[in-house]
Amino acid sequence: MRQKLVVGNWKMYGRLERNRTLLEGVLSGVRDLTQAAYGVCVPYPYLAQAQVMLQGSNVAWGAQNLSQHEEGAFTGAVAPGMLVDFGCRYVIIGHSERRALFHESNDIAAAKFDAAIKAGMTPIFCVGETLVERESGVTEQVVARQLDVVLNHVGAAAVAKSVIAYEPVWAIGTGKTATPEQAQAVHAFIRAQVAQLDEQTAQALCILYGGSVKPNNAEQLFAMPDIDGGLIGGASLVAEDFVAICSAANAAAAG
Ligand code: PGA
Repeated sequence: MRQKLVVGNWKMYGRLERNRTLLEGVLSGVRDLTQAAYGVCVPYPYLAQAQVMLQGSNVAWGAQNLSQHEEGAFTGAVAPGMLVDFGCRYVIIGHSERRALFHESNDIAAAKFDAAIKAGMTPIFCVGETLVERESGVTEQVVARQLDVVLNHVGAAAVAKSVIAYEPVWAIGTGKTATPEQAQAVHAFIRAQVAQLDEQTAQALCILYGGSVKPNNAEQLFAMPDIDGGLIGGASLVAEDFVAICSAANAAAAG
């Protein structure tokens, strides 16, 4: 059976003192939740803090972006090796906010995916349609295109070392969650797309749902056969909520 995974995406939130309280709450809340895996993707400046507080625990940590380059004159960018220096397991790639606000294309996402794998990290690769795209009935085409660029570029062996996150753009930070059935349909589609590349990889692949996952909807989402956990934005900033979502994943994994 595939492992359930819950990862927090803090986005550009956090301060040293607030993070400490949050991480202490998360650590004590998930300590005994042994059936699933957990992680937090924090802003770059707080990676050292996450490393110090989380090492040796059952909460992994990571970043929300990285450069596709190993090093060089790229002012303001952060190289994969730098994330490895701070013990990052995960790095989010192709989040819709990166695509929309920072003009990251599918090709850039593919290059970053590759760079993350080469550095030994687990990319969490995000795909998802906008509201206009959903309403025009092109969700599958949009998701297929986002996936194809990466799958064709990196190949099955790299995909097997990654996590995919389905994040409908209209559900991110809006309080509007995809219904478990809507999410399940796209998750099954994603798995089928990956199966065209490699069946075994597809069956083992962890596919997270992201977009307004909250304590009151996590259980139903995680009960769906192709939803292997969640990528959590807003609710990951409140220890109690994040722990409740982790607990739903733990319960789903325990069956
Ligand atoms: P949200 O964000 O949970 O606040 O909707 C999810 C995400 O952007 O990863």
